[in-house]
Amino acid sequence: MLRLLRHVFICCNERPADDPRGCCLARGADAVRDAFKRELAQRGLRTQMRATRCGCLDHCEQGVTVVVYPEQVWYGHVTPSDVPEIIERHLLAGEPVERLRIDRDHPGAAAP
Ligand code: FES
Repeated sequence: MLRLLRHVFICCNERPADDPRGCCLARGADAVRDAFKRELAQRGLRTQMRATRCGCLDHCEQGVTVVVYPEQVWYGHVTPSDVPEIIERHLLAGEPVERLRIDRDHPGAAAP
């Protein structure tokens, strides 16, 4: 049985263009997901860590929104260029990337 050390969920939800909340897909979620998948594969980590697209995480204004388990660390405004840093510092070294963290319980706020 596959036992993952870390699982990254990337919101790839899509809404109509005129929706006031916007959506992560319009903010580049597919590119973020592709970057995670590519970087994990290039580093030979696919058997230990996985990146999976998911539906709305309810922090739409801060998208692209990402959450990492098992720590339940939430990130906002993630771009493909942030992905190598998240993998190296958080997924491999266990140190969350503070500049990207958001507060899961208070949408719109930085992590406490
Ligand atoms: S659309 Fe991504 S958090 Fe809601």
